[in-house]
Amino acid sequence: MENAINFNEINIDSKPPEDEPARQYYFMAKCRQYVKAESERLGRPLTAAVITFGCQMNARDSEKLSGILESIGYLPAEDENADFVIYNTCTVRDNANQRVYGRLGHINSLKKKNHHMKVALCGCMMQELSVIEKIKKSYRFVDLVFGTHNIYKFAELLAEMFDSGDICGTHSGGQNASHRIIIDIWENTDKIVEDLPVERKYPFKSGINIMFGCDNFCSYCIVPYVRGRERSRSPEDILREISALARDGVAEVMLLGQNVNSYGKTLENPITFAQLLREVEQIEGIERIRFMTSHPKDLSDELIAVMKESKKICRHLHLPLQSGSTRILTAMNRRYTKEQYLALAEKIRREIPDISITTDIIVGFPGEEPADVDETIDVIKKVQYDNAFTFIYSKRTGTPAAAMAETMAGTPEENLEREMMVKEGFDRLLKVVQDTARQRVARLEGQILDALVEEVNEQDSRLLTGRLSNNTIVHFPGDKSLIGRIVPVYLKECHGFYYLGEKR
Ligand code: SAH
Ligand code: SF4
Ligand code: F3S
Repeated sequence: MENAINFNEINIDSKPPEDEPARQYYFMAKCRQYVKAESERLGRPLTAAVITFGCQMNARDSEKLSGILESIGYLPAEDENADFVIYNTCTVRDNANQRVYGRLGHINSLKKKNHHMKVALCGCMMQELSVIEKIKKSYRFVDLVFGTHNIYKFAELLAEMFDSGDICGTHSGGQNASHRIIIDIWENTDKIVEDLPVERKYPFKSGINIMFGCDNFCSYCIVPYVRGRERSRSPEDILREISALARDGVAEVMLLGQNVNSYGKTLENPITFAQLLREVEQIEGIERIRFMTSHPKDLSDELIAVMKESKKICRHLHLPLQSGSTRILTAMNRRYTKEQYLALAEKIRREIPDISITTDIIVGFPGEEPADVDETIDVIKKVQYDNAFTFIYSKRTGTPAAAMAETMAGTPEENLEREMMVKEGFDRLLKVVQDTARQRVARLEGQILDALVEEVNEQDSRLLTGRLSNNTIVHFPGDKSLIGRIVPVYLKECHGFYYLGEKR
């Protein structure tokens, strides 16, 4: 546990402090009392499950929530059979929202059986007004709702929830009409609260937020609206956190931000992302450095040079393309052309030949034609991605592209025809992605490369799963005592996107 604290030193009979994070530690101390009392009443420990629906940043937020839950006395649970379930939601595409609604239906039936169960919803989806309205109307059994900007106040919100009814309710499990849902959503914030507890999923690797929010406003994307304006953490705080992680046995860090290349611009003393990387590299004990996500428009020569020289920065760059058609890129507000992207990819390959480049692609942006998909396919063939995440465009209310989609909408028949055209383009593109990725990944066959051993293989417990510097996965026989270590592995057989190997 990062930032563990001695709760006996906190006087909960006094008024809560105004300063952060002291205020949250005060509320954690209060919550501990509730959890202890309830656990004594039930004669067993209480359990809590934090379920992550979104990206790496969403997952890191879940680790922060878990840190607070464990600090106040909950035991971690893997699934919804728990006393407290928290859904950390995502709204980047509509299917992310639908998954949450689907799971909420299931939770309702669990809650009917387990009257003292509590349910909280947080994350990006909660920043949408229409979602809050729907929860108030159709999901009244939920106990607590908060957003992305006030996640640091989780302990304070929990204290309010516990105060508003006994913790695991001798009430009717919140099913009655008088049940109050505590809802606290902020539109924005520039506040960054440091030094709260965090519970890492892996002891040997960790994500680290280096910045929050996004100012790019790609026309299809809802993230700037639900995560707020771009703000960077100070380099001192980041380096202090990474040093503490290193002392705690973390070998690999992943620096997280929606656009890490623009790191530092909002700081009082601006520094570049490349300068930050140089500093992180100095930290003893850290053996691997990753980062996500890079925006092509901000990827500097300085960054390429730092990556090239570094022994620690991994040989992997996630460089979202979105589209290979300059016409569509302009409509997407990506601020680069097909030619600029290709020139950048070529420069990176020239400077760092062993690098793996991966990408994100959207098919079906409003107005996209099969000829535009051909342009994207052309880029895929030229860049030779190791992997590409392909998405069908999803209309997000409030974004400029949603307005474009509405203007362009036709009759129901025309819309259906377009849907089929998009699906056809998507399948065509996916095939090229898979074919090129297979060829590209296969280039490593026969080499011996270092892998960080992450876990026992889920399908076959005789195998371990490791990750190469370039992010490729390799499975190989070995003992689980190797988990967390970096070991050389012979890449014997390529199976599409992963390898079967042998430890050397
Ligand atoms: N900040 C990151 C990505 C955040 S979202 C970046 O700029 O790369 C992850 C991916 O989801 C995006 O790269 C994009 O490909 C996809 N995405 C975002 N909004 C989408 C939408 N409305 N429909 C379909 N895919 C979308
Ligand atoms: Fe969304 Fe674009 Fe920001 Fe990425 S850079 S989060 S795609 S607005
Ligand atoms: Fe989803 Fe929010 Fe991440 S919308 S992709 S969880 S920033």
